[in-house]
Amino acid sequence: MSSNKRILSGMRSTSPKLHIGNYEGALHNWVDLQNDGFDLFCMVADLHALTTMFDDPKAVSINAREVAKDYVAAGIDPNRSVIFIQSHVKEHSELHLLLSMMTPLGWLERVPTYKEKQQDLGGAEREPYGLLGYPVLQTADILLYRPHGVPVGRDQAAHLEIGNDIGRRFNKLTGSEVFSEYKYMISEDELRAKLPGLDMRKMSKSYGNCIYLSDTPEDTAKQIQSAFTTPTKMRKSDPGIPEGCAVCQYLRIYSPNWEQQWAEDVAGERGCSQNKKELTEILNEYLRPMRERRAALSDSDVEDILRDGAKRAQVVAGETMDAVRSAMGLF
Ligand code: TRP
Repeated sequence: MSSNKRILSGMRSTSPKLHIGNYEGALHNWVDLQNDGFDLFCMVADLHALTTMFDDPKAVSINAREVAKDYVAAGIDPNRSVIFIQSHVKEHSELHLLLSMMTPLGWLERVPTYKEKQQDLGGAEREPYGLLGYPVLQTADILLYRPHGVPVGRDQAAHLEIGNDIGRRFNKLTGSEVFSEYKYMISEDELRAKLPGLDMRKMSKSYGNCIYLSDTPEDTAKQIQSAFTTPTKMRKSDPGIPEGCAVCQYLRIYSPNWEQQWAEDVAGERGCSQNKKELTEILNEYLRPMRERRAALSDSDVEDILRDGAKRAQVVAGETMDAVRSAMGLF
C-alpha cells in the first residue's frame, strides 16, 4: 500500500531558527528529493517538541511557523511539496494512541535518545509520560503516509528502525498488510552531514556556534570572524592545521579552491583573516537564495501554506486511518 514516490520527514519546533547544520544534515536532501520528482511531506513536529518544552507550549507553536518559513527558504516549494504542522493533522494523535497499545515497553526503554533526554530532564517526577512514547509518535508520523522513504539525519536511525518494527507488528497482530517497510534515507555526504559548529564542537544553539538560515549577511560575517582557527597560528607565516580549524573545514565543503587554500594555510602563505574573508563571501553567496525566498514570504503566506498543507496531508492520513480502523475492527 505504500506509494512509490511519497517521502515523509520532519523536524521538531524546539527552536525558532534552523541552522546550516540542520540544512546540510537533512533539509538539503529533502530539497534534492523534491527536485527529483518525489512527493514530499515536510512536517513540523510540534507535538514532539512538547515532550521537552511542555512548560512553554506557546513558544512551540510560534517556533513551528518559523521552522515552516525555514523550510520554504531552504527551497521546499509549497506548490510541489506539502508543508504542515503535525498537530494540525489529528490522525497523528489517533494513530499514536493505537500504536501505543501494540508497542512493547521494552523496545522504548532501550532507545538511546530516550535515556539521554530522561537524564536531561532530571528524574521521573519531571519526565513526561509522552517522552517514552516519542518513537511511537514518530512511527505514527511516518506510517500515516505509507512512504517509500524517510530522509533524516544520522541521529534518527534508531527511531526509524523501531518504526518498521512497529509496522510489522501491527500487520501481524491484525493479520493485515496495511503497512509496508520504508527506506531509511540517511545522507551519504559525510562531510556535509557532520558539519561542525564554528568552534569545532557539534553545531548547537546552546553553544552559540551556529550559522542560522535566517541570519543576515552581517550576522554571518560576525560569526565567521569569531570562528575557531589554528590556535598556534598567530601570524600569516605560522603553519596552520586545517584539520582542526573550523574555517578550513568549512572551506573544504563550500570552496571550490579549498585544496589550494589548505596548502597555503599549511605553508604559512595565507593568514586566518584571508580564510575568513573568503569563507564569508562564499557562504553569503550560498545563503543568498534562501534569504531572498524568506524575504518574499509574509506571515500570512505562511499561514496559507500551512492550512493548505494540513488539508493535503489529511487526505492521505485519513485514508490510512480508514485502513487501520478496518484492520483493527474499529468501526
Ligand atoms: N525526531 C525527529 C528529530 O528530532 C523529528 C521527527 C518527528 C521526524 N517525526 C518525524 C523525523 C518523522 C522523520 C520522520 O529530528
